[in-house]
Amino acid sequence: MNTIGQIIPPFSTSKVNIVLNKDVITQGEPVLGRYLKINFKRKNKECIALLRLIELTTENSSILNSEMAINANLLEGVKEKIQRNDIPVAVCEVLTAFEKNEEEKRYYRLNLDTIIHSLENVEFVEENLIKKIISHIEDEVFYIGKAINENFDIPVVFKPFSILNEAYHMLIVGQTGSGKSTEAKKILAAYAKNDCLYSKEHKEYKRMNYLILDPVGEFSKSFKGEEMGHFPINLNEIWEILGKDENIKIFGIDNIVFDNNDWNIFKELMISEKVFEPIGIKYEANQLITINEIISFLRNQHKTLHDLSEISPRELINLIRDRINIIYSMQNKRNEVRSLLNSEENVHNFLVRWNNVIQYFNPENEKESIQYIISQLVENSNQTIVIDLSTLKWENPLKYMITYSILDKLIKKGEEVYKNSDEILNTLVVLDEAHRLVPAKLNNQEENYKVKTKEKIVTAFRETRKLGIGWMVISTRISNIDTEIWEHSRVKLFGFGLSTGKDAELIKELFGREVLELYKQKIGDPYDLMGERKHRFMIDGPVNIISRKIPEFYEAYNSYDDFKDKNNLDSFFIDC
Ligand SMILES: Nc1ncnc2c1ncn2[C@@H]1O[C@H](COP(=O)(O)OP(=O)(O)OP(=O)(O)O)[C@@H](O)[C@H]1O
Ligand SMILES: [Mg+2]
Repeated sequence: MNTIGQIIPPFSTSKVNIVLNKDVITQGEPVLGRYLKINFKRKNKECIALLRLIELTTENSSILNSEMAINANLLEGVKEKIQRNDIPVAVCEVLTAFEKNEEEKRYYRLNLDTIIHSLENVEFVEENLIKKIISHIEDEVFYIGKAINENFDIPVVFKPFSILNEAYHMLIVGQTGSGKSTEAKKILAAYAKNDCLYSKEHKEYKRMNYLILDPVGEFSKSFKGEEMGHFPINLNEIWEILGKDENIKIFGIDNIVFDNNDWNIFKELMISEKVFEPIGIKYEANQLITINEIISFLRNQHKTLHDLSEISPRELINLIRDRINIIYSMQNKRNEVRSLLNSEENVHNFLVRWNNVIQYFNPENEKESIQYIISQLVENSNQTIVIDLSTLKWENPLKYMITYSILDKLIKKGEEVYKNSDEILNTLVVLDEAHRLVPAKLNNQEENYKVKTKEKIVTAFRETRKLGIGWMVISTRISNIDTEIWEHSRVKLFGFGLSTGKDAELIKELFGREVLELYKQKIGDPYDLMGERKHRFMIDGPVNIISRKIPEFYEAYNSYDDFKDKNNLDSFFIDC
């Protein structure tokens, strides 16, 4: 069965109604969401329009009285349909149109600006047609999953940012377990494949860099080839095939230190870790004075934060004792602190907290500073840096501060490169669990480091596109992240769990009622005990090839081998 029905009025260049053929109805062919095709002529050339069936209705009163209905009588089979009151009518969105260039043997996209005749046959789309349309860009195409109820896969193209001369920001949203991180890893592989391709074709091409902030450690595992789970993606293996494995660096929290001039981070950490509380300095204002005194002590000796560990406990205690008149104006408070500085237990507790903070500024044991890590990333190409923050809980301010410091340095470096050369960075940054880092709302009492981290990411989203830094942000809901992230994301990927409340409203606002309905219909719960395990997604943005107007829906491949096969991710095909 190839023909689904015929075009009937009303129709426009963006929406087309079709009356369904009898056998489609009697055989119960799944039709909602399907891809359809119409042949038409433009300037006498062969063209095709691709449609998506977005809504099914059972009435169409206009046809009953229209002239069209009378003409339709002439056509075998259609007559009976339009004479009944409950005509099953399908509403289709025109996704795109192509003109076939016979000489070049390829298709060119065009705007549908001509009339397609009524009663023209509408057909289902076959795999062959998709293959033909994309044949001239076949190498660049990545298959992200299976089109739902179709016999073809969804082609997308993730071009490296330096080729596009701008970066794309991406947003991946969906309920916990919907498969976001897995899809994120596939997209990393998609970029890496084209990166390999371009590096083979263009000698001067500088390969993509990746920076992954990994809050739960799963990217680190994947890059070590140790990922478990239902669908373990081995990015180590894929990187090896694509010639990127030599430059994978994974930093745990024990392998990095803040920079020697990260004075603000030092202050924030000392305050959030309540370092001075055991010795009676409880208010933030007094703590800040104390910290400033320590900083000026260091500076007077021409030392930096990386020398903090050289201050002996005795020196530190004497320093606070000496400066107590600056820290407190009230005599009784001065006395209280002095007496607590004589208590062994309090001093011990103070020193434990102090050491806890200064370890993050102590560049011993081959620890790398954030500044150095970022310089290495920016000054070289083909780097993959994963920062494994999984040993820190979200309650720990360090998780935010490390993120802040890394992003701050990267953005500054990106600006430098942009100003001083005609290149842009070719860098993709991944931020998983972004609802923690860029929440929709922060209440007034929220800690400074959370506010600053959020501001940094939002500003980055606005400003780094032209620098060649693209962000891939992963979150459980659209509504729990800042709206600017949503607005500035060129590529959006939606998994299960967004069909209610504010999330549904946002989807509807952006794509319209029919797409929201399709989303609800097509993207089911992968953990439904009564169904097969299917991780389905809706993807929108300039990476889509077929549909430029409304999102593509796909079912993610359910095995790693399938995914590799579809994309020829095998060293046999690729030599990078
Ligand atoms: N296409 C797929 N087919 C089969 N299993 C999958 C697929 N995608 C993901 N999974 C598995 O489902 C589980 C959840 O996937 P994943 O961790 O990617 O989800 P998530 O949305 O990132 O969840 P969280 O919000 O908890 O981080 C994992 O065990 C993963 O291996
Ligand atoms: Mg995840």
